[in-house]
Parts: sequence; C-alpha cells; structure tokens
Amino acid sequence: MYYIASYHTHKLVITLFILIYLVKFILLMSGKHKTLESFSARIKIPEIVVSSLFLITGVSLLFETAEISGLMVAKIIVVGLSIPVAIKAYRGKNKLLAALSFLMIIGAYGMAEMNKYMIIHTQDLPSDVVTDASDPAYSMVIHGKALYDTQCINCHGADGTLQMSGANNLRLSKMTEDQIVERINTGKMTMPPYDDFFTNHEKKAISEYILSLQDNQGIQSQ
Ligand code: HEC
Repeated sequence: MYYIASYHTHKLVITLFILIYLVKFILLMSGKHKTLESFSARIKIPEIVVSSLFLITGVSLLFETAEISGLMVAKIIVVGLSIPVAIKAYRGKNKLLAALSFLMIIGAYGMAEMNKYMIIHTQDLPSDVVTDASDPAYSMVIHGKALYDTQCINCHGADGTLQMSGANNLRLSKMTEDQIVERINTGKMTMPPYDDFFTNHEKKAISEYILSLQDNQGIQSQ
C-alpha cells in the first residue's frame, strides 16, 4: 500500500519542484536577479520540504520496484548530476548552466515517463509451449501462463500475489475476463498498456490463466 502513496507523492512533488524551478529559470533568463533572490529566499523552506519528500519517496519506491531498467538508472544519474549543475548556475547567475540543468530535469522527467514502455519484454516463450490454437495439444491456460511469465511475473509474481511496483494481488481480484483484458490493454500506474503488444487471443489466454490462479485460492492460504 505504501508504494501507491509514495508513487503519488513522488509525482506531486516532482510537479511542484519543476514549477518552482521554472519560475527561477524564467527570472534568471530574463535578468531579474533581484526578484530571483527574493523569490529564492521566500521559497527556501517549501523547496527543502519538496526536495526531501522527492528523495525519500524516490528511494522508498526503488526498494519496491520490480524491475530497474537501464533507462531508470540513467534517469537517476541525470537527476543527481542536475543538482550540482543547478547550484553552480544559480550561484554564478550562469544562463548556460541554468539552461543545461533545466534540460536535464525535463529530460529525466521524459525518461521516467518512457520507462514504463521499457519494461515490456520481447516475447520469448519456452519452445515446448504450444501457441497454435488449432493444435490438439493446445491449452489456453498453459499458453496464458507462458505469456504471463514473460511479461507480468516481475510485478505480480508467479502466483499473482507478489505486489511489486504497486501491483495488486491478482488472486484477490474480482475482475471478469473482459475486465482483465481491458486492464491489459490500458495498464495502470506502473503497469504498461499492452494493447498493441498482445493479440486478442493472447489477452484472453492470459486472462484465463489469471482466473485459474484465483480458482486455487483455497489451496494456498493468503
Ligand atoms: C511494472 C509492474 C507491472 C507489470 C509488469 C504488470 N502489472 Fe498488472 N498491475 C500493476 C499495477 C501497479 C496495477 C494496479 C494496481 C492498482 O489498481 O492500484 C496492476 C493491476 C493489474 C490488474 C487489475 C487487478 C484488479 O483487480 O484491480 C490486472 C488484471 C493485471 N494487473 C494484470 C497484469 C497482466 C496480465 C500483466 C502482464 C501482461 C501485468 N499485469 C503486468 C503492475 C504491473
């Protein structure tokens, strides 16, 4: 549960941080040094609060993140580097450095948004899984499991109960097959949208597999 709270707090403080930074950037670029100084003095305490919340939520999210992609590592490095660049820029009223740090912050934001799509894996099913529905040996649930294991397992776990990256327990889900297909299409929060990625048949197979996990609910205690 705390992941979801951290996630939304993190997004909110990032927005506030960028807004504060944007005002400072505009003031520096337009040469309004006096206004910049009084704004910086006035915003100091809120800025400390925002930056601390940003760091605390960011670090706590990392611990519960199912999969840390290269892009996410790059994002964290860019954010880390932007801090000394920004400090130097505003101390020396250096427009070039200010522009650079602003670009770094916006770039990091873009990387974070793109990251969602980086965790969609290439489809690499085990060779013994029959994917041709007209084959007599075909099983929709086995096909669904194989697809689930390549794309969903990092967050939801083999049995649906892992709950990494803010995911909820699939064994406790009350969704119907159609609703599961819809969620696969749209994604939610950290879950990427897979609408173009799977065929309709594959989406149905995954949904059947998820529903089959729930059928076993009485066997393994929660
Ligand atoms: C990066 C992590 C992540 C991956 C990968 C992921 N999910 Fe999710 N999943 C989530 C999150 C986060 C939620 C939303 C939790 C919420 O509603 O607050 C979610 C919710 C769901 C739900 C809704 C359950 C309910 O009752 O609300 C379904 C169904 C689901 N995921 C299926 C899948 C399937 C199928 C895949 C693979 C194709 C997948 N997920 C991959 C994180 C992930």
